[in-house]
Amino acid sequence: MIDTLTISATRTAASRLPEVDFDNLEFGKTFSDHMLVVDYHDGEWQEPQIVPYGDMSISPANSALHYGQAIFEGMKAYKNKEGDIYIFRPADNLHRLNASAERMCMPSIPEEIFMQGLRQLIQLDAEWVPSFTGSALYIRPFMFATDGLLGVRPSDSYRFMIITCPVGLYYNKPLRVRFEEKYVRSAEGGAGFAKNAGNYGAAMYPTKLAQQEGYNQLIWTDASEHKYVEESGTMNAMFVINGHLVTPALSTSILDGITRRSVLQLARDWGMPVEERKVSALEILDAHAQGTLQEAFGVGTAATIAPIAVIGYQGQDYTLPTVPTDAFSNRVSGALTAIRSGEAADTHNWMVRV
Ligand code: COI
Repeated sequence: MIDTLTISATRTAASRLPEVDFDNLEFGKTFSDHMLVVDYHDGEWQEPQIVPYGDMSISPANSALHYGQAIFEGMKAYKNKEGDIYIFRPADNLHRLNASAERMCMPSIPEEIFMQGLRQLIQLDAEWVPSFTGSALYIRPFMFATDGLLGVRPSDSYRFMIITCPVGLYYNKPLRVRFEEKYVRSAEGGAGFAKNAGNYGAAMYPTKLAQQEGYNQLIWTDASEHKYVEESGTMNAMFVINGHLVTPALSTSILDGITRRSVLQLARDWGMPVEERKVSALEILDAHAQGTLQEAFGVGTAATIAPIAVIGYQGQDYTLPTVPTDAFSNRVSGALTAIRSGEAADTHNWMVRV
């Protein structure tokens, strides 16, 4: 990592670490002691600062609140047996954050601020990085507009921040999902590939309806025909059909997931046929009927690999076969855990030492 920028840090007077029950962490509820804050105004990023985690004040006319100029990333840091801390593919997150920023008319984050901000923040809160299997420090970089102005135009000022939280498993059992055929997450030409806040807010109502029907999540379908799989909940969707790993090809409506990219890479490393292409709901159900649908799972930073047990379609539930321990999703989940914990060789240089 670049090592030049030194960030001023104001330490918390009293760490909250002793109050944390690491065995019962609700995702995204317990925050580490410090956060990074950098403001942008007059056309440039100002001095980054690390300060105690806490509330901040913003204008009631803050344009992110009114018009949604807000983007974020999700990434994780892990502690190995020696106690060293590594972040998984941070440069990929920076790249995607800046792609989101461009789509939302926001300034890009310089690499030095992002990487050094991450590094110094996590060094300061090193004790917050859990080390038991399945746990990690979830890192949430985000940027939002800070102009207090109700005129609809890109803000002139922004704030970039990083907050972190220790997390355990996101889902603790295989998911029940259903194909969504009325609402859409994103259309071609929309902002689905970007990690902007509005994508997530607009997904809540259709997800709530599915949850009222007993599902955990949706499988989003395309906006024009409601025929092709897009994503599953907040994750990329993957299927193993007849020994082939099949996933929707990237488009302007699909997030370029870093876990997605990593899973595809490992599958290719292992010689598994990989197909990034359009995959329809009917193809999935047909493969299920033929007995060739071996696995379905979601992949994402928060959830890592989330197996799907049941897929609902037009009022009918289809139960997937029980996944054997040597199934692809289990092997890839184990391989990612081993790389992250330092137990397996990091042949693609995904882990960056803090
Ligand atoms: C992530 O996996 O980091 C996500 O973006 C999901 C999150 C919204 C909880």
